[in-house]
Amino acid sequence: MYRRNNIVKKYVLVGVGGRSMMFTEAFVEKYKGISQIVAICDINNGRLDLAAKKLREVFPALKCYSAEKFDEMLTAHRPDTVIVATRDCSHDDYICRSLEAGCDVITEKPMTIDEKKCQRIVDTIKKTGRSVRVTFNYRYSPPRSQIKKLLMDGVIGKVLSVNLTWFLDTNHGADYFRRWHSNKENSGGLLVHKATHHFDLINWWLSSVPKTVFARGERVFYNAQQANRCGLSDHARRCLDCKLSDRCNFYLDMRHVPLIKELYLDNEKYDGYLRDLCIFRDDIDIEDLVGIVAQYRNGAILTYNLTAFSPWEGYRLDIQGTQGKLEQLCQETSYINGDGTVQGGFIAAGTSLKIYPHFQTPYEIPVWSGKGAHGGGDILMLDDIFGSPKEDPLKRVADYVQGAYSILLGVAANKSIKEGKMINIDDLVKDLPAPDFEIEQEDNEIIPFVKKTKLMSGGIETKANIPQKVYEKNTFPAGNLRIKHSDIVSI
Ligand SMILES: NC(=O)c1ccc[n+]([C@@H]2O[C@H](COP(=O)([O-])OP(=O)(O)OC[C@H]3O[C@@H](n4cnc5c(N)ncnc54)[C@H](O)[C@@H]3O)[C@@H](O)[C@H]2O)c1
Repeated sequence: MYRRNNIVKKYVLVGVGGRSMMFTEAFVEKYKGISQIVAICDINNGRLDLAAKKLREVFPALKCYSAEKFDEMLTAHRPDTVIVATRDCSHDDYICRSLEAGCDVITEKPMTIDEKKCQRIVDTIKKTGRSVRVTFNYRYSPPRSQIKKLLMDGVIGKVLSVNLTWFLDTNHGADYFRRWHSNKENSGGLLVHKATHHFDLINWWLSSVPKTVFARGERVFYNAQQANRCGLSDHARRCLDCKLSDRCNFYLDMRHVPLIKELYLDNEKYDGYLRDLCIFRDDIDIEDLVGIVAQYRNGAILTYNLTAFSPWEGYRLDIQGTQGKLEQLCQETSYINGDGTVQGGFIAAGTSLKIYPHFQTPYEIPVWSGKGAHGGGDILMLDDIFGSPKEDPLKRVADYVQGAYSILLGVAANKSIKEGKMINIDDLVKDLPAPDFEIEQEDNEIIPFVKKTKLMSGGIETKANIPQKVYEKNTFPAGNLRIKHSDIVSI
Protein backbone atom coordinates (compact mmCIF):
# COMPACT_ATOMS: atom_id res chain seq x y z
CA MET A 1 0.00 0.00 0.00
CA TYR A 2 1.76 3.12 -1.16
CA ARG A 3 0.87 6.72 -0.96
CA ARG A 4 2.68 10.03 -1.38
CA ASN A 5 6.39 9.42 -2.09
CA ASN A 6 5.85 5.65 -1.68
CA ILE A 7 5.29 6.04 2.05
CA VAL A 8 2.73 3.74 3.69
CA LYS A 9 0.27 5.78 5.74
CA LYS A 10 -1.41 4.07 8.67
CA TYR A 11 -4.59 5.40 10.30
CA VAL A 12 -6.61 4.62 13.40
CA LEU A 13 -10.09 6.00 14.08
CA VAL A 14 -11.69 6.93 17.40
CA GLY A 15 -15.48 7.39 17.42
CA VAL A 16 -17.41 5.10 15.06
CA GLY A 17 -20.84 6.81 14.98
CA GLY A 18 -22.76 8.43 12.13
CA ARG A 19 -20.05 10.78 10.87
CA SER A 20 -17.26 8.21 10.94
CA MET A 21 -18.93 6.42 8.04
CA MET A 22 -17.67 9.10 5.67
CA PHE A 23 -14.13 7.97 6.57
CA THR A 24 -14.77 4.21 6.80
CA GLU A 25 -16.49 4.18 3.40
CA ALA A 26 -13.54 6.09 1.93
CA PHE A 27 -11.13 3.47 3.36
CA VAL A 28 -13.03 0.47 2.00
CA GLU A 29 -14.06 1.98 -1.33
CA LYS A 30 -12.20 4.69 -3.25
CA TYR A 31 -8.97 4.78 -1.24
CA LYS A 32 -8.61 1.12 -0.29
CA GLY A 33 -5.41 0.71 -2.27
CA ILE A 34 -3.68 3.77 -0.94
CA SER A 35 -4.67 4.21 2.74
CA GLN A 36 -4.69 1.67 5.51
CA ILE A 37 -6.85 1.68 8.63
CA VAL A 38 -5.42 -0.64 11.28
CA ALA A 39 -7.59 -0.11 14.39
CA ILE A 40 -10.75 1.55 15.69
CA CYS A 41 -11.80 2.68 19.16
CA ASP A 42 -15.11 3.69 20.82
CA ILE A 43 -16.91 3.59 24.17
CA ASN A 44 -19.68 1.50 22.59
CA ASN A 45 -18.74 -2.12 21.82
CA GLY A 46 -21.83 -2.66 19.67
CA ARG A 47 -20.93 0.18 17.31
CA LEU A 48 -17.32 -1.03 17.29
CA ASP A 49 -18.45 -4.49 16.10
CA LEU A 50 -20.67 -2.93 13.43
CA ALA A 51 -17.87 -0.76 12.03
CA ALA A 52 -15.33 -3.61 12.27
CA LYS A 53 -17.59 -5.93 10.25
CA LYS A 54 -17.58 -3.52 7.30
CA LEU A 55 -13.90 -2.58 7.57
CA ARG A 56 -12.66 -6.19 7.89
CA GLU A 57 -13.99 -6.99 4.40
CA VAL A 58 -11.00 -5.00 3.16
CA PHE A 59 -8.74 -4.89 6.25
CA PRO A 60 -9.07 -8.39 7.82
CA ALA A 61 -6.40 -7.69 10.46
CA LEU A 62 -8.21 -4.59 11.83
CA LYS A 63 -8.33 -4.50 15.66
CA CYS A 64 -10.99 -2.99 17.99
CA TYR A 65 -10.22 -1.15 21.23
CA SER A 66 -12.52 0.11 23.96
CA ALA A 67 -12.01 3.76 24.94
CA GLU A 68 -9.91 3.02 28.04
CA LYS A 69 -7.41 1.20 25.79
CA PHE A 70 -6.87 4.14 23.42
CA ASP A 71 -3.21 4.69 24.45
CA GLU A 72 -2.58 0.95 24.22
CA MET A 73 -3.90 1.09 20.64
CA LEU A 74 -1.44 3.87 19.75
CA THR A 75 1.49 1.96 21.27
CA ALA A 76 0.54 -1.29 19.56
CA HIS A 77 -0.01 0.13 16.06
CA ARG A 78 2.11 3.30 15.92
CA PRO A 79 -0.23 5.00 13.39
CA ASP A 80 0.85 8.05 11.38
CA THR A 81 -2.52 9.71 11.84
CA VAL A 82 -5.39 9.45 14.30
CA ILE A 83 -8.87 10.38 13.02
CA VAL A 84 -11.05 11.82 15.80
CA ALA A 85 -14.84 11.55 15.28
CA THR A 86 -16.16 11.27 18.85
CA ARG A 87 -18.48 13.71 20.63
CA ASP A 88 -17.13 17.26 20.45
CA CYS A 89 -16.31 17.47 24.19
CA SER A 90 -13.78 14.63 23.99
CA HIS A 91 -11.93 15.83 20.86
CA ASP A 92 -9.28 17.73 22.86
CA ASP A 93 -8.37 14.71 24.96
CA TYR A 94 -7.94 12.37 21.99
CA ILE A 95 -6.13 15.05 19.97
CA CYS A 96 -3.61 15.75 22.76
CA ARG A 97 -3.00 12.09 23.65
CA SER A 98 -2.38 11.34 19.96
CA LEU A 99 0.03 14.27 19.57
CA GLU A 100 1.90 13.22 22.72
CA ALA A 101 2.24 9.73 21.24
CA GLY A 102 3.92 11.22 18.14
CA CYS A 103 0.94 11.03 15.76
CA ASP A 104 -0.65 13.65 13.54
CA VAL A 105 -4.39 14.20 13.87
CA ILE A 106 -7.35 14.70 11.58
CA THR A 107 -10.29 15.84 13.67
CA GLU A 108 -13.92 16.38 12.94
CA LYS A 109 -15.27 19.85 13.60
CA PRO A 110 -15.54 21.56 16.00
CA MET A 111 -11.88 21.16 17.01
CA THR A 112 -13.06 21.54 20.59
CA ILE A 113 -15.76 23.34 22.59
CA ASP A 114 -14.20 25.88 24.96
CA GLU A 115 -11.13 28.04 25.53
CA LYS A 116 -9.48 25.76 28.14
CA LYS A 117 -9.61 22.71 25.89
CA CYS A 118 -8.42 24.88 23.00
CA GLN A 119 -5.45 26.11 25.07
CA ARG A 120 -4.52 22.50 25.84
CA ILE A 121 -4.41 21.70 22.11
CA VAL A 122 -2.39 24.84 21.28
CA ASP A 123 0.14 24.04 24.06
CA THR A 124 0.45 20.38 23.06
CA ILE A 125 1.08 21.26 19.40
CA LYS A 126 3.78 23.70 20.51
CA LYS A 127 5.37 21.00 22.69
CA THR A 128 5.18 18.08 20.20
CA GLY A 129 5.51 19.83 16.82
CA ARG A 130 2.85 17.50 15.36
CA SER A 131 -0.05 18.65 13.18
CA VAL A 132 -3.83 18.84 13.55
CA ARG A 133 -6.08 19.18 10.55
CA VAL A 134 -9.77 20.09 10.95
CA THR A 135 -12.11 18.63 8.36
CA PHE A 136 -13.98 21.73 7.22
CA ASN A 137 -15.91 20.11 4.39
CA TYR A 138 -17.98 23.29 3.90
CA ARG A 139 -14.94 25.04 2.37
CA TYR A 140 -14.87 22.35 -0.34
CA SER A 141 -18.52 22.63 -1.31
CA PRO A 142 -18.40 24.27 -4.76
CA PRO A 143 -20.82 27.18 -4.13
CA ARG A 144 -18.79 28.23 -1.06
CA SER A 145 -15.45 27.77 -2.83
CA GLN A 146 -16.91 30.01 -5.54
CA ILE A 147 -17.45 32.84 -3.01
CA LYS A 148 -13.81 32.54 -1.92
CA LYS A 149 -12.68 32.74 -5.56
CA LEU A 150 -14.86 35.79 -6.29
CA LEU A 151 -13.58 37.64 -3.21
CA MET A 152 -9.97 36.72 -4.02
CA ASP A 153 -10.57 38.13 -7.51
CA GLY A 154 -11.73 41.38 -5.92
CA VAL A 155 -15.16 41.31 -7.55
CA ILE A 156 -16.64 43.60 -4.86
CA GLY A 157 -13.36 45.18 -3.70
CA LYS A 158 -12.33 45.21 -0.03
CA VAL A 159 -14.95 43.55 2.19
CA LEU A 160 -16.60 45.92 4.66
CA SER A 161 -19.45 43.82 6.04
CA VAL A 162 -20.93 40.33 6.08
CA ASN A 163 -24.49 39.47 6.92
CA LEU A 164 -25.16 35.74 7.20
CA THR A 165 -28.42 34.14 8.28
CA TRP A 166 -28.35 30.37 8.55
CA PHE A 167 -31.61 28.45 8.69
CA LEU A 168 -31.75 24.89 10.07
CA ASP A 169 -35.18 23.50 9.37
CA THR A 170 -37.64 21.73 11.66
CA ASN A 171 -36.27 18.37 10.50
CA HIS A 172 -32.49 18.83 10.63
CA GLY A 173 -32.57 21.60 13.26
CA ALA A 174 -34.83 19.61 15.59
CA ASP A 175 -32.43 16.67 15.51
CA TYR A 176 -29.81 18.58 17.53
CA PHE A 177 -32.33 18.73 20.39
CA ARG A 178 -32.81 14.93 20.52
CA ARG A 179 -29.18 13.93 20.88
CA TRP A 180 -26.02 14.60 22.95
CA HIS A 181 -25.76 17.95 21.16
CA SER A 182 -28.63 19.32 23.28
CA ASN A 183 -26.29 19.90 26.25
CA LYS A 184 -23.55 22.52 26.10
CA GLU A 185 -21.11 20.38 28.07
CA ASN A 186 -21.12 17.94 25.12
CA SER A 187 -21.27 20.26 22.12
CA GLY A 188 -20.71 23.87 23.21
CA GLY A 189 -24.23 24.58 21.86
CA LEU A 190 -25.06 25.45 18.26
CA LEU A 191 -22.81 28.54 18.41
CA VAL A 192 -19.87 26.13 18.59
CA HIS A 193 -21.08 22.79 17.27
CA LYS A 194 -22.84 24.13 14.18
CA ALA A 195 -21.63 27.70 13.76
CA THR A 196 -17.97 26.54 13.70
CA HIS A 197 -18.66 25.70 10.03
CA HIS A 198 -20.16 29.12 9.34
CA PHE A 199 -17.54 31.12 11.27
CA ASP A 200 -14.79 29.18 9.55
CA LEU A 201 -16.27 30.05 6.16
CA ILE A 202 -16.42 33.73 7.07
CA ASN A 203 -12.84 33.79 8.46
CA TRP A 204 -11.60 32.05 5.31
CA TRP A 205 -13.65 34.14 2.88
CA LEU A 206 -12.43 37.34 4.52
CA SER A 207 -8.81 36.13 5.09
CA SER A 208 -9.13 37.56 8.56
CA VAL A 209 -10.16 36.57 12.08
CA PRO A 210 -12.65 38.02 14.56
CA LYS A 211 -11.58 40.44 17.28
CA THR A 212 -14.65 41.25 19.39
CA VAL A 213 -18.19 39.88 19.66
CA PHE A 214 -21.50 40.64 21.32
CA ALA A 215 -24.24 37.99 21.25
CA ARG A 216 -27.77 37.17 22.41
CA GLY A 217 -29.39 33.77 22.33
CA GLU A 218 -32.39 31.88 23.70
CA ARG A 219 -34.26 28.61 23.42
CA VAL A 220 -37.59 29.89 22.15
CA PHE A 221 -39.04 26.97 20.15
CA TYR A 222 -37.84 23.59 21.39
CA ASN A 223 -39.24 24.11 24.88
CA ALA A 224 -42.19 23.39 27.16
CA GLN A 225 -44.17 26.47 26.00
CA GLN A 226 -44.08 25.30 22.38
CA ALA A 227 -45.11 21.78 23.50
CA ASN A 228 -48.09 23.39 25.32
CA ARG A 229 -49.00 25.48 22.26
CA CYS A 230 -49.06 22.29 20.17
CA GLY A 231 -50.99 20.24 22.76
CA LEU A 232 -47.95 18.02 23.38
CA SER A 233 -47.24 18.73 27.04
CA ASP A 234 -47.86 15.06 27.97
CA HIS A 235 -44.87 13.93 25.96
CA ALA A 236 -42.64 11.13 27.25
CA ARG A 237 -38.89 11.52 27.78
CA ARG A 238 -38.18 9.72 24.50
CA CYS A 239 -40.07 9.02 21.29
CA LEU A 240 -40.01 5.26 21.71
CA ASP A 241 -42.14 5.56 24.90
CA CYS A 242 -44.35 8.42 23.71
CA LYS A 243 -48.11 8.06 23.22
CA LEU A 244 -48.36 11.25 21.14
CA SER A 245 -46.68 9.88 18.02
CA ASP A 246 -49.71 10.45 15.76
CA ARG A 247 -49.94 14.13 16.81
CA CYS A 248 -46.26 15.09 16.84
CA ASN A 249 -44.43 16.11 13.65
CA PHE A 250 -41.12 15.62 15.46
CA TYR A 251 -41.73 11.97 16.31
CA LEU A 252 -38.73 9.81 15.38
CA ASP A 253 -39.38 6.09 15.17
CA MET A 254 -35.88 4.60 15.28
CA ARG A 255 -37.31 1.11 14.66
CA HIS A 256 -38.14 2.11 11.10
CA VAL A 257 -34.98 3.92 9.99
CA PRO A 258 -32.62 0.98 9.33
CA LEU A 259 -29.29 2.77 9.71
CA ILE A 260 -30.37 4.64 12.85
CA LYS A 261 -31.74 1.41 14.35
CA GLU A 262 -28.52 -0.46 13.62
CA LEU A 263 -26.25 2.34 14.88
CA TYR A 264 -28.10 3.54 17.96
CA LEU A 265 -31.24 1.62 19.04
CA ASP A 266 -29.60 -1.80 18.81
CA ASN A 267 -26.59 -0.55 20.79
CA GLU A 268 -28.32 1.27 23.66
CA LYS A 269 -27.57 -1.67 25.93
CA TYR A 270 -23.84 -0.92 25.83
CA ASP A 271 -23.82 2.72 26.99
CA GLY A 272 -27.44 3.78 27.64
CA TYR A 273 -27.26 6.51 24.99
CA LEU A 274 -30.76 7.45 23.78
CA ARG A 275 -30.82 9.06 20.32
CA ASP A 276 -34.56 9.87 20.31
CA LEU A 277 -34.99 12.12 23.38
CA CYS A 278 -37.97 14.51 23.28
CA ILE A 279 -37.07 17.86 21.73
CA PHE A 280 -39.36 19.66 24.22
CA ARG A 281 -37.76 18.32 27.41
CA ASP A 282 -36.54 20.61 30.19
CA ASP A 283 -32.92 19.51 30.55
CA ILE A 284 -31.91 20.93 27.15
CA ASP A 285 -29.54 23.87 27.70
CA ILE A 286 -28.61 24.99 24.17
CA GLU A 287 -30.15 27.91 22.26
CA ASP A 288 -32.26 27.52 19.12
CA LEU A 289 -32.13 31.22 18.18
CA VAL A 290 -28.92 33.27 18.30
CA GLY A 291 -27.73 36.58 16.92
CA ILE A 292 -24.23 38.06 17.04
CA VAL A 293 -22.39 41.19 16.00
CA ALA A 294 -18.62 40.78 15.60
CA GLN A 295 -15.78 42.93 14.34
CA TYR A 296 -12.88 41.46 12.39
CA ARG A 297 -9.22 42.42 12.60
CA ASN A 298 -9.47 43.83 9.07
CA GLY A 299 -12.31 46.10 10.24
CA ALA A 300 -15.21 44.19 8.61
CA ILE A 301 -18.39 43.89 10.65
CA LEU A 302 -20.27 40.59 10.82
CA THR A 303 -23.91 40.18 11.71
CA TYR A 304 -24.89 36.52 12.02
CA ASN A 305 -28.15 34.80 12.90
CA LEU A 306 -28.87 31.13 13.35
CA THR A 307 -32.29 29.57 13.82
CA ALA A 308 -32.98 25.87 14.25
CA PHE A 309 -36.73 25.88 13.51
CA SER A 310 -37.04 27.27 10.00
CA PRO A 311 -39.53 25.87 7.45
CA TRP A 312 -36.64 25.57 4.95
CA GLU A 313 -32.96 24.69 5.18
CA GLY A 314 -30.15 26.86 3.86
CA TYR A 315 -28.74 30.37 4.15
CA ARG A 316 -28.83 33.95 2.96
CA LEU A 317 -25.50 35.73 2.57
CA ASP A 318 -24.79 39.40 1.82
CA ILE A 319 -21.22 40.63 1.55
CA GLN A 320 -20.69 44.35 0.97
CA GLY A 321 -17.42 45.72 -0.31
CA THR A 322 -15.88 48.98 -1.47
CA GLN A 323 -16.97 48.22 -5.08
CA GLY A 324 -20.36 46.55 -4.64
CA LYS A 325 -22.26 43.71 -3.09
CA LEU A 326 -22.40 39.91 -3.40
CA GLU A 327 -25.57 38.02 -2.55
CA GLN A 328 -25.95 34.28 -2.25
CA LEU A 329 -29.19 32.49 -1.50
CA CYS A 330 -28.75 28.82 -0.89
CA GLN A 331 -31.44 26.22 -0.31
CA GLU A 332 -30.34 22.78 0.82
CA THR A 333 -31.89 19.35 1.22
CA SER A 334 -32.76 18.46 4.79
CA TYR A 335 -31.62 15.29 6.55
CA ILE A 336 -31.06 13.85 9.98
CA ASN A 337 -27.69 12.47 10.94
CA GLY A 338 -27.29 8.75 10.31
CA ASP A 339 -30.50 8.30 8.28
CA GLY A 340 -28.50 7.36 5.19
CA THR A 341 -29.75 10.22 2.99
CA VAL A 342 -27.42 12.69 1.23
CA GLN A 343 -26.49 15.41 3.72
CA GLY A 344 -26.86 19.04 2.74
CA GLY A 345 -27.33 18.72 -1.02
CA PHE A 346 -28.01 21.99 -2.88
CA ILE A 347 -31.44 22.61 -4.38
CA ALA A 348 -30.62 24.32 -7.67
CA ALA A 349 -33.96 26.12 -7.97
CA GLY A 350 -33.47 27.80 -4.58
CA THR A 351 -29.81 28.70 -5.01
CA SER A 352 -28.49 31.84 -6.68
CA LEU A 353 -25.47 34.10 -6.77
CA LYS A 354 -25.74 37.77 -7.69
CA ILE A 355 -23.24 40.59 -7.91
CA TYR A 356 -24.32 44.20 -7.62
CA PRO A 357 -21.39 46.44 -8.64
CA HIS A 358 -21.76 50.06 -7.55
CA PHE A 359 -23.29 52.20 -10.33
CA GLN A 360 -23.35 49.29 -12.81
CA THR A 361 -25.79 46.65 -14.04
CA PRO A 362 -26.05 43.79 -11.54
CA TYR A 363 -25.52 40.26 -12.82
CA GLU A 364 -26.24 36.68 -11.84
CA ILE A 365 -23.58 33.97 -12.05
CA PRO A 366 -24.34 30.24 -12.42
CA VAL A 367 -23.57 28.59 -9.10
CA TRP A 368 -20.76 26.01 -9.06
CA SER A 369 -22.18 22.61 -8.28
CA GLY A 370 -20.99 19.20 -7.14
CA LYS A 371 -22.33 15.77 -6.27
CA GLY A 372 -22.75 14.07 -2.90
CA ALA A 373 -22.94 15.16 0.73
CA HIS A 374 -22.56 18.82 1.75
CA GLY A 375 -23.01 20.07 -1.81
CA GLY A 376 -20.16 17.88 -3.07
CA GLY A 377 -17.77 19.12 -0.37
CA ASP A 378 -17.22 15.73 1.34
CA ILE A 379 -15.96 14.00 -1.83
CA LEU A 380 -13.54 16.81 -2.70
CA MET A 381 -12.23 16.99 0.86
CA LEU A 382 -11.68 13.22 1.08
CA ASP A 383 -9.74 13.36 -2.16
CA ASP A 384 -7.60 16.08 -0.66
CA ILE A 385 -6.95 13.99 2.46
CA PHE A 386 -6.45 10.53 0.95
CA GLY A 387 -5.89 11.10 -2.78
CA SER A 388 -2.89 12.38 -4.66
CA PRO A 389 -1.73 15.91 -3.78
CA LYS A 390 -3.11 18.80 -5.82
CA GLU A 391 -2.59 22.52 -5.86
CA ASP A 392 -4.93 24.37 -3.50
CA PRO A 393 -5.00 28.01 -4.61
CA LEU A 394 -8.09 28.59 -2.43
CA LYS A 395 -6.24 27.33 0.69
CA ARG A 396 -9.02 24.98 1.76
CA VAL A 397 -6.88 22.86 4.10
CA ALA A 398 -7.51 24.00 7.68
CA ASP A 399 -4.97 23.55 10.49
CA TYR A 400 -5.38 23.91 14.28
CA VAL A 401 -5.09 27.72 14.12
CA GLN A 402 -8.03 27.97 11.76
CA GLY A 403 -9.85 25.32 13.80
CA ALA A 404 -9.26 27.48 16.89
CA TYR A 405 -10.49 30.75 15.37
CA SER A 406 -13.60 29.04 14.01
CA ILE A 407 -14.64 27.98 17.52
CA LEU A 408 -13.39 31.02 19.44
CA LEU A 409 -16.04 33.27 17.90
CA GLY A 410 -18.72 30.84 19.15
CA VAL A 411 -17.02 30.36 22.54
CA ALA A 412 -16.84 34.14 22.95
CA ALA A 413 -20.48 34.46 21.83
CA ASN A 414 -21.51 31.88 24.48
CA LYS A 415 -19.61 33.94 27.06
CA SER A 416 -21.24 37.14 25.84
CA ILE A 417 -24.73 35.63 26.19
CA LYS A 418 -23.88 34.51 29.74
CA GLU A 419 -22.19 37.71 30.89
CA GLY A 420 -24.21 40.20 28.84
CA LYS A 421 -21.13 42.04 27.57
CA MET A 422 -18.80 42.32 24.59
CA ILE A 423 -15.96 39.74 24.57
CA ASN A 424 -12.43 40.24 23.34
CA ILE A 425 -11.48 37.08 21.43
CA ASP A 426 -7.71 37.58 21.81
CA ASP A 427 -8.12 37.26 25.61
CA LEU A 428 -9.36 33.67 25.40
CA VAL A 429 -6.30 31.67 24.28
CA LYS A 430 -2.59 32.49 24.59
CA ASP A 431 0.11 31.87 21.95
CA LEU A 432 -2.31 31.41 19.06
CA PRO A 433 -0.55 32.53 15.87
CA ALA A 434 -2.32 34.26 12.97
CA PRO A 435 -3.78 31.84 10.40
CA ASP A 436 -1.69 31.47 7.26
CA PHE A 437 -4.48 33.00 5.19
CA GLU A 438 -4.62 36.21 7.19
CA ILE A 439 -3.85 39.20 5.02
CA GLU A 440 -2.94 42.56 6.50
CA GLN A 441 -4.91 44.80 4.17
CA GLU A 442 -3.27 48.09 3.35
CA ASP A 443 -5.74 50.68 2.22
CA ASN A 444 -4.18 51.17 -1.20
CA GLU A 445 -7.17 50.15 -3.30
CA ILE A 446 -7.77 52.37 -6.35
CA ILE A 447 -11.24 52.25 -7.82
CA PRO A 448 -11.30 53.36 -11.48
CA PHE A 449 -14.12 55.71 -12.47
CA VAL A 450 -16.79 53.94 -14.52
CA LYS A 451 -19.72 56.05 -15.57
CA LYS A 452 -23.00 55.16 -13.89
CA THR A 453 -25.24 52.88 -15.97
CA LYS A 454 -27.73 51.88 -13.34
CA LEU A 455 -30.94 53.85 -13.11
CA MET A 456 -32.84 54.45 -9.92
CA SER A 457 -36.15 56.25 -9.94
CA GLY A 458 -37.24 57.21 -6.46
CA GLY A 459 -35.67 54.08 -4.98
CA ILE A 460 -37.80 51.79 -7.18
CA GLU A 461 -35.98 49.17 -9.21
CA THR A 462 -36.08 49.74 -12.95
CA LYS A 463 -35.19 47.09 -15.53
CA ALA A 464 -31.56 48.20 -15.45
CA ASN A 465 -31.51 47.33 -11.78
CA ILE A 466 -32.56 43.70 -12.21
CA PRO A 467 -29.63 41.27 -12.29
CA GLN A 468 -28.71 40.08 -15.78
CA LYS A 469 -27.26 36.64 -16.41
CA VAL A 470 -23.56 36.18 -16.91
CA TYR A 471 -21.99 32.94 -18.03
CA GLU A 472 -18.58 32.03 -16.72
CA LYS A 473 -16.09 31.23 -19.42
CA ASN A 474 -13.58 29.82 -16.98
CA THR A 475 -14.18 27.71 -13.93
CA PHE A 476 -11.97 26.87 -11.02
CA PRO A 477 -9.06 26.23 -10.96
CA ALA A 478 -8.20 27.77 -14.33
CA GLY A 479 -8.52 31.39 -15.28
CA ASN A 480 -9.63 34.57 -13.69
CA LEU A 481 -13.25 34.96 -12.79
CA ARG A 482 -13.26 38.75 -12.98
CA ILE A 483 -16.41 39.63 -14.92
CA LYS A 484 -16.17 42.00 -17.86
CA HIS A 485 -19.16 44.07 -18.76
CA SER A 486 -19.26 42.46 -22.21
CA ASP A 487 -19.86 39.06 -20.54
CA ILE A 488 -23.27 40.14 -19.33
CA VAL A 489 -26.14 39.02 -21.52
CA SER A 490 -29.75 40.10 -21.22
CA ILE A 491 -32.39 37.69 -20.00
N1 LIG B 1 -18.36 17.87 9.22
C1 LIG B 1 -19.63 17.52 9.25
O1 LIG B 1 -20.37 17.84 8.37
C2 LIG B 1 -20.13 16.67 10.42
C3 LIG B 1 -21.39 16.05 10.36
C4 LIG B 1 -21.80 15.29 11.45
C5 LIG B 1 -20.99 15.17 12.58
N2 LIG B 1 -19.78 15.80 12.62
C6 LIG B 1 -18.91 15.69 13.80
O2 LIG B 1 -18.49 14.33 13.93
C7 LIG B 1 -18.36 13.97 15.30
C8 LIG B 1 -19.21 12.73 15.58
O3 LIG B 1 -20.57 13.05 15.37
P1 LIG B 1 -21.64 11.90 15.03
O4 LIG B 1 -22.76 12.58 14.38
O5 LIG B 1 -20.97 10.78 14.35
O6 LIG B 1 -22.08 11.47 16.50
P2 LIG B 1 -22.50 10.01 16.97
O7 LIG B 1 -23.13 10.16 18.29
O8 LIG B 1 -23.24 9.33 15.88
O9 LIG B 1 -21.10 9.26 17.10
C9 LIG B 1 -20.15 9.55 18.09
C10 LIG B 1 -19.39 8.27 18.39
O10 LIG B 1 -18.39 8.56 19.37
C11 LIG B 1 -18.48 7.61 20.41
N3 LIG B 1 -17.99 8.25 21.63
C12 LIG B 1 -18.62 9.18 22.38
N4 LIG B 1 -17.83 9.57 23.39
C13 LIG B 1 -16.67 8.88 23.27
C14 LIG B 1 -15.46 8.84 24.01
N5 LIG B 1 -15.28 9.60 25.09
N6 LIG B 1 -14.49 8.01 23.60
C15 LIG B 1 -14.65 7.23 22.48
N7 LIG B 1 -15.78 7.22 21.75
C16 LIG B 1 -16.78 8.03 22.14
C17 LIG B 1 -19.94 7.20 20.47
O11 LIG B 1 -20.14 5.95 21.09
C18 LIG B 1 -20.30 7.18 18.99
O12 LIG B 1 -20.03 5.93 18.40
C19 LIG B 1 -18.80 15.19 16.10
O13 LIG B 1 -17.68 15.90 16.51
C20 LIG B 1 -19.61 16.01 15.11
O14 LIG B 1 -19.55 17.39 15.38
C21 LIG B 1 -19.34 16.52 11.55
